[in-house]
Amino acid sequence: MSSTVQAFPPSDEFAAQANGTAEMYDHADADRLEFWAEQARRLDWATDFTTTLDWSDAPFAKWFVGGRLNVAVNCVDRHVAAGKGDRVAIHWVGEPGDTRDLTYSQLLAEVSKAANYFSSIGLVAGDRVAIYMPMVPEALISMLACARLGLTHSVVFAGFSSGALRSRVDDAEAKLVITTDGQYRRGQPAPLKTQVDEALGTGEDAAKSVEKVLVVRRTNHDPDLNWVEGRDVWWEDTVDEQSDTHEAEAFDAEHPLFLLYTSGTTGKPKGIVHSSGGYLTQVSYSFHYVFDHKEGRDVFWCGADIGWVTGHSYLVYGPLSNGATEVVYEGTPNSPNEHRHFEIIQKYGVTIYYIAPTLIRTFMKWGREIPDAHDLSSIRLLGSVGEPINPEAWKWYREVIGGDSAPIVDTWWQTETGAIMISPLPGVTATKPGSAMKPLPGISANIVDDQGNPVGAGEQGYLVLDQPWPSMLRGIWGDDERFRETYWSRFAEQGWYFAGDGARYDEDHALWVLGRVDDVMNVSGHRISTAEVESALVGHSGVAEAAVIGAADETTGQGIVAFVILREGVANTGDQLIAELRQQVSVEISPIAKPREINVVPELPKTRSGKIMRRLLKDVAEGRELGDTSTLVDPSVFEAIRAKKA
Ligand code: WTA
Repeated sequence: MSSTVQAFPPSDEFAAQANGTAEMYDHADADRLEFWAEQARRLDWATDFTTTLDWSDAPFAKWFVGGRLNVAVNCVDRHVAAGKGDRVAIHWVGEPGDTRDLTYSQLLAEVSKAANYFSSIGLVAGDRVAIYMPMVPEALISMLACARLGLTHSVVFAGFSSGALRSRVDDAEAKLVITTDGQYRRGQPAPLKTQVDEALGTGEDAAKSVEKVLVVRRTNHDPDLNWVEGRDVWWEDTVDEQSDTHEAEAFDAEHPLFLLYTSGTTGKPKGIVHSSGGYLTQVSYSFHYVFDHKEGRDVFWCGADIGWVTGHSYLVYGPLSNGATEVVYEGTPNSPNEHRHFEIIQKYGVTIYYIAPTLIRTFMKWGREIPDAHDLSSIRLLGSVGEPINPEAWKWYREVIGGDSAPIVDTWWQTETGAIMISPLPGVTATKPGSAMKPLPGISANIVDDQGNPVGAGEQGYLVLDQPWPSMLRGIWGDDERFRETYWSRFAEQGWYFAGDGARYDEDHALWVLGRVDDVMNVSGHRISTAEVESALVGHSGVAEAAVIGAADETTGQGIVAFVILREGVANTGDQLIAELRQQVSVEISPIAKPREINVVPELPKTRSGKIMRRLLKDVAEGRELGDTSTLVDPSVFEAIRAKKA
């Protein structure tokens, strides 16, 4: 990982037409706040802001103070007003093969109808709405309708369990839950509203805050769908009946646009709070420059689900605020077969394609003859997000999907940062496979040691953000203390944001993100906390104690490996027990959190102070020689597991 690594400079042709320029870095460095004030002008403000940043109450930031805007108007209305109403905003592709195109005019009508309905049931700015939906157009429409009314949405990934939904609904005290009757999973309809019913409970156990459940008919698979009179309504009977015009009002730049729950180092997910003006400024800016987006020409496709931050920022707010035309695909990449993504790219002439490394590695496993069977020549830019991309996958991506010429933007950011922070600027940066290269113009990051001293080239340190940025999280919902403690206490003296990632610079000062340094795992680009999985495992009546680690995995980046101690007198039934435990995690959290491997052990390696030695468990799981095992009564058990891997 040094300067001897082959760099890929932009072609002259690409550079000549690129949105980004090398001067942007100097310009932003010269006056960072002025730079961001200029970027904020990308948006339409109903009332101009008076101060770019108020950091007097750090770490609680206020950006674009005094400014008022409507996020949905910026994403939809203004494009229609500018005569672009007939431009396709969304090419939607359903998993079973149904499709729907929505122009900006049509999107405006749909968003207006939904906003009218939300108002009609008494929701007012500041109320929270939970969205638990597959990738149907109504999911995006719902998010925008919330934004239009100043309702704070909380999207919950539709792969999460009813328990996970309930805790999020309760924490946010959501008044409305929007869902679908079912969702398609690999060609089969699966229930979804059933999980909502389970989550919300009845009688004494009912979720107190919820007044209505709005249901979009998607799969129509269940003639006996459970229905709670007075609470449940169909979208087609309510939203569709509304007027398709709606007068939008402007909200304060700091008005909370959404909450998004993400895993931390403890068992309880935290509701990350994002603002309106600052958030939209940075997602809009980054979309334009990082993806080199050309309005009216490009067709953008972000493969993320709206349940994750990437779906919020680069499937909804970034592209739509830029008037982009984008693909939204409902299903999995191998439904009905592994050609699906490439067929979609070819059909819609996708020019910019943004996915996670785990999917690239899956494509590699499936074999290049699959993409090679399609005309992918429309692609001119590729993006990667969510986890470190290994150089091999990077090169394959460029060569096989990018026709050996498309620049790759490896974008580092987090739910908390709201928008892309570290990434090459296409047409400007000579990229190195596996490196996110450097902070975007206007962003400042550093790599430091325990004491906060900058580390030298080649040395590993902690990634910190040493200056506030517009789309930064404004807090953790209802827990200011946890917000300070989680992100701002590590380098409190310096006032830096601690990202939780390790990183290093190479000799050319290119930045390499190395992955989490805390107890957060990254499985297929999904953040899962070890504590959450451990707590699900000990929820099983047979388990006394559990320790979970993320072990290197060729395809998913990390795989979840668990070590459990059974309760006294509980028999180890082998495969049956393991299946039960995996099911337990699936039900408590989500199928995505199911351990790849569960080992029943007689004890766990612990330090004198009783802390589990995760390092040693990682060595076991990854088949490395074990270091100091002196705290273990019987190291041979762990040796045996290790030996199987080595
Ligand atoms: C990791 C996803 C290396 C990182 C947008 C971070 C990455 C966590 C990259 C955030 C990248 C994201 N290279 N690692 N390009 N992008 N990560 O909140 O560990 O789901 O802290 O946001 O993903 O995950 P989150």
